[in-house]
Amino acid sequence: MNKTIEIKKKDSILGTYNPPPDKSISHRSIIFAAIGRGSSKIHNLLEADDCLKTVNAFKQIGIKINKVNRHYEVKGKGLFGLKPTNGVIDCGNSGTTLRLLSGLLSGQKNKYILDGDSSLQKRPMKRIISPLTMMGANIKSLRSNKRCPVLIKPAKLNSITYRMPIASAQVKSALLLANMYTDSTVKIIEKKPSRDHTEKIMKKLGFDIKIDNKIIKYKSNSSFLIPSSIYNIPGDFSQAAYFITLALLTEGSKLYIKNVNLNPTRTGFLQVVKEMGANIETVEIDKKGEPTGDLLVSYSKLHGIKINEKLIPLMIDEIPLIAVLAIKAKGITEIKSAQELRYKESDRLQVLKDNFNKLGLKIDIYSDGFKVKGPQKVKKSNILDSNNDHRMAMTFSILASLFKNKKIYISNYKSVNISYPQFFNVLKEI
Ligand code: S3P
Repeated sequence: MNKTIEIKKKDSILGTYNPPPDKSISHRSIIFAAIGRGSSKIHNLLEADDCLKTVNAFKQIGIKINKVNRHYEVKGKGLFGLKPTNGVIDCGNSGTTLRLLSGLLSGQKNKYILDGDSSLQKRPMKRIISPLTMMGANIKSLRSNKRCPVLIKPAKLNSITYRMPIASAQVKSALLLANMYTDSTVKIIEKKPSRDHTEKIMKKLGFDIKIDNKIIKYKSNSSFLIPSSIYNIPGDFSQAAYFITLALLTEGSKLYIKNVNLNPTRTGFLQVVKEMGANIETVEIDKKGEPTGDLLVSYSKLHGIKINEKLIPLMIDEIPLIAVLAIKAKGITEIKSAQELRYKESDRLQVLKDNFNKLGLKIDIYSDGFKVKGPQKVKKSNILDSNNDHRMAMTFSILASLFKNKKIYISNYKSVNISYPQFFNVLKEI
């Protein structure tokens, strides 16, 4: 039998909250530090299973990475310094590790195999295999259905112009990394803008990269040496979103959120909740590099809205929380064009429906979204199953934190270790 955790409602949420380090920026900092020349420092690296898979992958291919006091030191070996390995590189649950490393390793002079856990083995890899193959990469799936493991062999890469069929920062980043091994310009045309952390790091390091709304052009120059650097990782907005939701929906709450990344390619959720009537003040903002600031979130009476599909890639990981907000908001909340939710660590639309229904909550799901009419009350006590998906475990914990009348348990709750090992301690403290 699965171990479960019981979540109970609190009367109000007051105080200060420090979000954990950003997961996406952590992965990218390790990658660029590893291919930089010399020693880089990473402050505030996310020590969660996903990012540790990226750390271990680089250790396996010859990069020294050590924790010194409270920061990480990475001894970069330059673009061509990665070693071969006889073993399979285990990316665990991390799509970011597998997809970004596929781009990077396609340009190496060695053979590599990248694999993952049973969840990652179900996720689509054609989205990286196709464009990397167009760039000349020798990459293929070792399974008939274009899932991982993927095998990468040395090849001469060339630049392409690629119109992205889906909005995905992982695919975009894989292509930018692969293009470092050409001597020409890759042009990526995004379907909708997605998170731009890779582009921001490349700019900071001196790469010749230009971004004009949805068009990214990166001109590679084989004599460019990636400098070592100091990486400071801000708080993760996606993780803060759980506590923003909790404070917005718990009467009498006032939560001060410190040092959170406010990159507009990540904060679609803020726009949506504000449109639903949320009272959130941006207290301070530092706009250099990755915009970062503090937020003051107050309890708010929300109403349902139709979500603008342009915002979907800017809030992709937070969408399950919109369903929780919709349960408490007055009126109908509807989201469409979010079919990507079906290809995450679980099929998040189905998992939402299955578990909401267990509590007697009504949600209509479509192939690409959902509709909820609020407000609703939990009608039954029950055990919710995260399906080993970290974001579903956290979403259900927030849902459970809002209702007093029934007993709610979460099974497979340890999946939070993927991105936020302290989640339940922080929830308890808050
Ligand atoms: C990520 C991009 C998103 C997101 C994931 C992290 C990244 O995935 O869901 O959690 O760091 O690039 P997609 O690129 O598949 O949308």
